[in-house]
Amino acid sequence: MSFAVLAAVGVALAAATYTYVLGLYKNVAKARKTGLPYLVVPISPINLAWQLTFTFWVPLIKLLPKSLWENWLFVMIPEWAYHTGQTHWDRLGAESFLVASPGHLALYTQSAEVIHQVTQRREAFPKNIAQYGILEMFGRNVLTTEGAVWRLHRKITSASFNEKNAAHTFAQAIHQTKGMLDMWFGPDGAKTGTTGTIRSLEHDTMTWALNIIGYVGFGLRLLWPGETMPKDIDPKLAKYGSLNPPAGHSLTFADSLAKTLERIVAILVYNETILRLLPFKFAKEAYQGKRNYLQYMDEFLRDKIDETRRGVPQREGMDIMGQLVQSSYGSESKKAGSTGTTKGDPTSTFKLSDADIIGNAFIMIVAGHETTANTLHFALVELATNPSTQRRLQQEVDALFGDSDPSTWEYEKNINALLASHVGATVNETLRLVPPVTVIPKVVTPDAEQTLRIDGRTYVLPPGLAISLVAVCAHRNPRWWPTRPSERTGAPTDLDDFLPERWYRTARDGSREAEEEDGDIVDKGDYGGFQGSDVAASLYRPVRGSYVPFSDGPRSCLGRRIAMVEMGAVLAVIFQRYSIELAVDEWADDGEVEAMTPAQRRALYRKAQHKSRETIRGANSVLTLKLHGGAHVPVRLVRRGRERFVSDPEL
Ligand code: HEM
Ligand SMILES: *[C@@H]1O[C@H](CO)[C@@H](O)[C@H](O)[C@H]1NC(C)=O
Ligand SMILES: *[C@@H]1O[C@H](CO)[C@@H](O)[C@H](O)[C@H]1NC(C)=O
Repeated sequence: MSFAVLAAVGVALAAATYTYVLGLYKNVAKARKTGLPYLVVPISPINLAWQLTFTFWVPLIKLLPKSLWENWLFVMIPEWAYHTGQTHWDRLGAESFLVASPGHLALYTQSAEVIHQVTQRREAFPKNIAQYGILEMFGRNVLTTEGAVWRLHRKITSASFNEKNAAHTFAQAIHQTKGMLDMWFGPDGAKTGTTGTIRSLEHDTMTWALNIIGYVGFGLRLLWPGETMPKDIDPKLAKYGSLNPPAGHSLTFADSLAKTLERIVAILVYNETILRLLPFKFAKEAYQGKRNYLQYMDEFLRDKIDETRRGVPQREGMDIMGQLVQSSYGSESKKAGSTGTTKGDPTSTFKLSDADIIGNAFIMIVAGHETTANTLHFALVELATNPSTQRRLQQEVDALFGDSDPSTWEYEKNINALLASHVGATVNETLRLVPPVTVIPKVVTPDAEQTLRIDGRTYVLPPGLAISLVAVCAHRNPRWWPTRPSERTGAPTDLDDFLPERWYRTARDGSREAEEEDGDIVDKGDYGGFQGSDVAASLYRPVRGSYVPFSDGPRSCLGRRIAMVEMGAVLAVIFQRYSIELAVDEWADDGEVEAMTPAQRRALYRKAQHKSRETIRGANSVLTLKLHGGAHVPVRLVRRGRERFVSDPEL
């Protein structure tokens, strides 16, 4: 190697070291200045290269003396908050702390007080949209934008989220739940009253949720295996529900979306040319998924534009695509586009591009699909794992609906009682323990410092500081939740236990006043979405900021009502007639179970409960918190009265 090359390498190394040390020094100085506790780490925990390779590095780092990594390594491991719960907050003795690395400075908090302030003050603490690249690959959208652009997207998309469409969702959720049950029981199960062991619960709940949002949101009739397309469906839409790839596609619509979601990281990291050339299965799936999905969406968009131009009236349901297209191509928008100068409204001068439309359609499908599917999946597994709460749920479903046919249930008449019952409490408790979105990313506005009040003291945060609202830990933070010693494990609190009953415990003292005195920070703007409450006054109401599965404030989930409605419907339909049990095939076959004494069965079920809890603890997020890599909790559904385990009052 010539001297010139060596010198150049030397200079580059020195420059890199300098930048690294200086960056770290600056961030540590900023962290210290806030007065909050902080950790110093060698690389940003959200660095993509780190996130893709941490499983390689972590064991190497652990070879070093413990004192060198003990204090900070935890925060470098994706999903640490879900996996380690209160451990590290307790150790640090803090509800909020900063993490300084050379390229990044971030605040992590599980304090209800902080979360409440940050979610309410949107201008001071906007969303950290830099972290949303993964959800913007098909175009900008309501979830990934900020400022005036977000307002426009929110205005156009929120119009569909009204009570009329919530009622529509209720009916469709009932219909799709029947489809799922028919698939599980099959022709034989109908006779024996029991399904075989189901290992595809997560996948099936994804189908369930996709079928609902596909139909309610987009008018697409998606099918269960064995189901046939209704005759009256618009032939243009029939291809999306086809169980085989239609002409011109190599995947069905549902598969194209499934593959896109499954391979979303690869799609983000590699461009299409590279994906097509890479000789790996993941690359092929990613490429095909993305290509097919975009092709479907493009055709869908063209058809909608055509319909809009011809003045075809909008469909029943949310017709999200129609709504988006209308805003850009409808007669109204032409007027706005040409004159375009309504004073004071920055959104009236621009409209959504085709890419924005496709981006929003994607986000509605993704946001409306994986989140709800996971909630149903974990709710079912938790109910199977906790028989007494399942029995209570069944009693309340019986009291509400008796033996009536679910297709006769009415949204207006039933929904409030349903969501105020043990059914609503079960959904709340599932979202508390296994929230699909574990961490909500915000940031201090880049152009100004912002202050936070914490325990009566004021802290000043530097411009641009990243903030992670660690919802999954706030949900289990004993400072903000009433708690008792755990009856199940003997732990000092019961906040790690699945106990829907906690939602009926008497309201925490002062929670109501806490809400009243918000006056100064509550953002009173109307951002669309559900304004009402799914609350009965007598139920436990969490302290603001301690329970944020749907986030809170102006950027909270648009689909909250729809999600709650879907969950209420599906649990009521299933548990009116069926029970769910953990499958025990791993330890005993059906004959052996048959021959067991009650005590033996109980002991067997405890093994299954233990394993189920371990499996749930192993969940991880790519987009949302779920099981990965084939991990699953096997279950069986049985007609009520045919239970082998969960009817045992001692379980
Ligand atoms: C149990 C189900 C659901 C959960 C737990 C959930 C959770 C969330 C959370 C935490 C956010 C805020 C994300 C952030 O600030 O980074 C959010 C936003 C959003 N959700 Fe949901 N969601 C659910 C269901 C749905 C459904 C069914 C839809 C639509 C059909 C939907 C549409 C949206 C949209 C459009 C946003 C962006 C709102 C904005 O930024 O203005 N979600 N959701
Ligand atoms: C993908 O990346 C390669 C190499 O970086 C580049 O040559 C190619 O033009 C890119 N293709 C597309 C479609 O962007
Ligand atoms: C579910 O949680 C909400 C808070 O998000 C609460 O207002 C509601 O009362 C809870 N439902 C039940 C049945 O406890």
